[in-house]
Amino acid sequence: MLKPVSLPPRCRCPANPASLPTGREHPWLAPLAGYSDLTFRILCREYGAAVCVTEMVSAKGLVYSGAGTRDLLAAAPEDQPLVVQLFGSEPEFLRQAVEILREAGYGWFDLNMGCAVRKVMRQGAGAALLDDPANALAAAKAMLAAAGRGRVGFKLRLGVSGEYSGPALTDLALRLQDMGAGWLALHPRTARQGFSGQANWDAIARLVHKLSLPLLASGDLLTAEDGLRCLDLTGAAGVMYARGAMRNPAIFAAHRALCQKGSPQKTAPLHDMILRHMALARALGSDDRALRKMRSVIPHYARSAPGARALRDAICRCANWQELEGALAAFFRIP
Ligand SMILES: Cc1cc2nc3c(=O)[nH]c(=O)nc-3n(C[C@H](O)[C@H](O)[C@H](O)COP(=O)(O)O)c2cc1C
Repeated sequence: MLKPVSLPPRCRCPANPASLPTGREHPWLAPLAGYSDLTFRILCREYGAAVCVTEMVSAKGLVYSGAGTRDLLAAAPEDQPLVVQLFGSEPEFLRQAVEILREAGYGWFDLNMGCAVRKVMRQGAGAALLDDPANALAAAKAMLAAAGRGRVGFKLRLGVSGEYSGPALTDLALRLQDMGAGWLALHPRTARQGFSGQANWDAIARLVHKLSLPLLASGDLLTAEDGLRCLDLTGAAGVMYARGAMRNPAIFAAHRALCQKGSPQKTAPLHDMILRHMALARALGSDDRALRKMRSVIPHYARSAPGARALRDAICRCANWQELEGALAAFFRIP
């Protein structure tokens, strides 16, 4: 049975918890550009995501008040605890962005130091900050000054080019820790690697042993079993699910069940999960945009099901919700 949608319209983000859960049994939803919007975050929370991170938001865009940027910040009281991820390279814009967000009620922040997209790195932002530690630290200082000690996390990659330098990464991480970072997250690939090869969990384990603040692991966590294995192998404080959540938001329920040494509960069938996502999208977004979003989201859910390509083609042609529901019913053979 699907739960009815009873959510307030877009609103500011009033309630902020005093601390964030970072333990093993509290899986986070990673920042996902184009994906971790309010709708998807609420869905993931229904399955047990402990903390969610927004899509990355441009600090400069926020200061100049771009409408698109404000859309990325839609939040609701149910959507807590929430971390807003910013990207940018200019400490002053990052400071101002945090101030604007604090004024609006947001309390937790993250600086993207891992985005490998050329357009972002060309501005000196994302993973490019790893090649400019002096500016990275200035940016961190500015955000921490505006947010308060412990209220900002930093999401890192291993570095920019092919080979990574463990000492350089450790040095940056230790400095962020000394400055008052609340947590760090590491996707252990270099920017040049993108998503190729395997995430280097050994690098997570090495960094964990150097730090006293929580390090969250990210990278190749496609199932809850991956998450638990990563925790056991690296000693990380917790995990962030990214592509694993995109493919199946019930990954959070499975993670929590495994932590309690139980077997994962039976979760809603895929068709129900998609309908729930659609219902939330319609309740929370503009109709047109929600429909477009669902057309890009559904293929991730169905990617391993037989006939997934035909479904994707059918969905692309859907001009309204009825047609989309019809395409899904045909795919899932719902009479
Ligand atoms: C579609 C997509 C969008 C992403 N957007 C962001 C982002 O906005 N900020 C960020 O720090 N990382 C972003 N990432 C990286 C993820 O947060 C995560 O670190 C990465 O996918 C590795 O985890 P995984 O292998 O378990 O998916 C993105 C990844 C994907 C697949």
